[in-house]
Amino acid sequence: MTSKKGDNTAPDLSIKDLPSEKERSIVEPVLEKSFEGWYLWHSKRTLKDIETVKAALIGDEPVGVSMLKMLNTKLGYVYYIAVSPEWRGKGIAGELLDTSDEFFFNKGANEVLAGISEDNEESKRLFSSRSYKEISFAELSKRFGRLHAINLYRKMVIVSGEVVYTKELTKGLAGSILTEEVEREKTNS
Ligand SMILES: CC(C)(COP(=O)(O)OP(=O)(O)OC[C@H]1O[C@@H](n2cnc3c(N)ncnc32)[C@H](O)[C@@H]1OP(=O)(O)O)[C@@H](O)C(=O)NCCC(=O)NCCS
Repeated sequence: MTSKKGDNTAPDLSIKDLPSEKERSIVEPVLEKSFEGWYLWHSKRTLKDIETVKAALIGDEPVGVSMLKMLNTKLGYVYYIAVSPEWRGKGIAGELLDTSDEFFFNKGANEVLAGISEDNEESKRLFSSRSYKEISFAELSKRFGRLHAINLYRKMVIVSGEVVYTKELTKGLAGSILTEEVEREKTNS
């Protein structure tokens, strides 16, 4: 799927699915410019085998990437999101995150989680701008049960120094992210 964004963000921005490993290699430079050390190694490995990868393109140039997966039938997870340094601050990650919320909503998720380094202010601002809120392990345990929360942390590969953010995909929020497909389903039912 390729969707053209016609708003006031970066010009000619489109978001495209990258289903195959070969296609995914086009966003490796974005990862190389965005991460280092363990995160770079892990993001490149994740790129190869994660369920869903979306690229942000300006014309034909890959400038951003998101890696997404369902943790269970109701819970989405934003594994990685990155934009090349020269394209930051133009709303590209915001567009990727809006597309990600829409993707998870259409998959039937009612909540999305993300793991964020405690000292990553840009990332915190990005997720906060889309109404994500920090959730502690204690709160997650209270909601899902301790064992389930441990299991979620394991699936999300939350490492020391990271915090978890969450956003509920409620009907109110979903209203703004309903796709034509879902609207059609609703009309037909
Ligand atoms: C985090 C990151 C993806 C943000 O990308 P971006 O394209 O610059 O973000 P956007 O321009 O879409 O900004 C999104 C929101 O965050 C805010 N924001 C992002 N970076 C900001 C900054 N440096 N200063 C102020 N606000 C910032 C913007 O105000 C915007 O909110 P708005 O839509 O309400 O205006 C980018 O900095 C990056 O790739 N960092 C390295 C990789 C990383 O750490 N990824 C996140 C964890 S996996």
